[in-house]
Amino acid sequence: MNAMTQFSRTAFAVLALVCATAAQAAPVEKPEKAAACAACHGETGVSATGMYPIIAGQYANYIEHALKDYRAGARKNAIMGAQAANLSDADIKQLAQWFGQQTGPLYTPSVHGELSK
Ligand code: HEC
Repeated sequence: MNAMTQFSRTAFAVLALVCATAAQAAPVEKPEKAAACAACHGETGVSATGMYPIIAGQYANYIEHALKDYRAGARKNAIMGAQAANLSDADIKQLAQWFGQQTGPLYTPSVHGELSK
């Protein structure tokens, strides 16, 4: 094995480890700003009515993306635009992780046809 192959394998192994670690983020503390979301999305992101989407158990990166789009005006909704306007990137990351870690009725069918949750 030449040096370049060895380097590539090592780099790949490190990258795979980083990705695996990121996917299983440690539980985060409930952010103070989550209190503002409860009125519509429920205490833990399980909304009481269909008017408001359930965000508990959603992929954290989806929640993060949605909040950044609302903040930037790329996704237009008067209510959520106002909610996201004063959130920093750090707030958004923390909210996304915390809501993503809550248990909700959403599930994702795996590519193998089983339910992952
Ligand atoms: C006054 C009610 C209200 C409050 C408070 C509120 N939301 Fe929302 N939220 C909504 C509504 C309505 C939608 C659907 C908007 C749309 O159609 O894009 C929504 C959508 C979302 C979505 C997109 C969900 C999806 O499936 O695409 C996320 C993520 C979200 N809210 C997070 C939050 C967070 C985090 C907070 C607190 C900082 C919050 N919301 C506060 C009403 C609210």
